[in-house]
Amino acid sequence: MCGRMLLSRLLYVSAAARAYDEDDLIALLRQSRQRNLEDNITGLLLYGNERFVQTIEGPPGAVDALRARLRRDTRHHSYRELFLQEAKTRAYKDWSMAFRHVMPEEMLGFTPLGELLQAADRGAATDLPNAAAIFDGFVRDRDARHGAVDSL
Ligand SMILES: Cc1cc2nc3c(=O)[nH]c(=O)nc-3n(C[C@H](O)[C@H](O)[C@H](O)COP(=O)(O)O)c2cc1C
Repeated sequence: MCGRMLLSRLLYVSAAARAYDEDDLIALLRQSRQRNLEDNITGLLLYGNERFVQTIEGPPGAVDALRARLRRDTRHHSYRELFLQEAKTRAYKDWSMAFRHVMPEEMLGFTPLGELLQAADRGAATDLPNAAAIFDGFVRDRDARHGAVDSL
């Protein structure tokens, strides 16, 4: 792969249209992974407390097209972008879309990730320069505690 390829990285939060069970998540991930392979997109999806937090990275045109599809996807609502920037390298290059279940209490509360979600709910968060670093830090800590195993 060309090392100089321009990349975009998106981080957004949304609220699931209803509680998702394993089968719903598996279906969503199957669709997403297949499409992302075609589009050269990688990333990681968190689900917990009926909220999604997802990072998506890939060629800018492909990321923009996916943003448009996500905005009109009725499986979630309250879509809010926290971060959209150019990136030189991929943070999640090994997965077409990795997945982690997150405990509700880890999504809430006075954690950096919880604060990101609360800022999004207040409508205060549109472009937070440190949001991706907070997300990556959360994933690292979570994986250190629970293991870096994709739960689906
Ligand atoms: C929480 C969530 C995450 C999603 N992640 C992706 C993704 O990573 N890649 C993708 O192609 N579609 C993803 N989708 C699905 C898109 O919104 C869309 O339904 C899909 O890309 C097919 O779009 P189309 O039917 O317009 O072709 C996601 C949907 C939801 C609700």
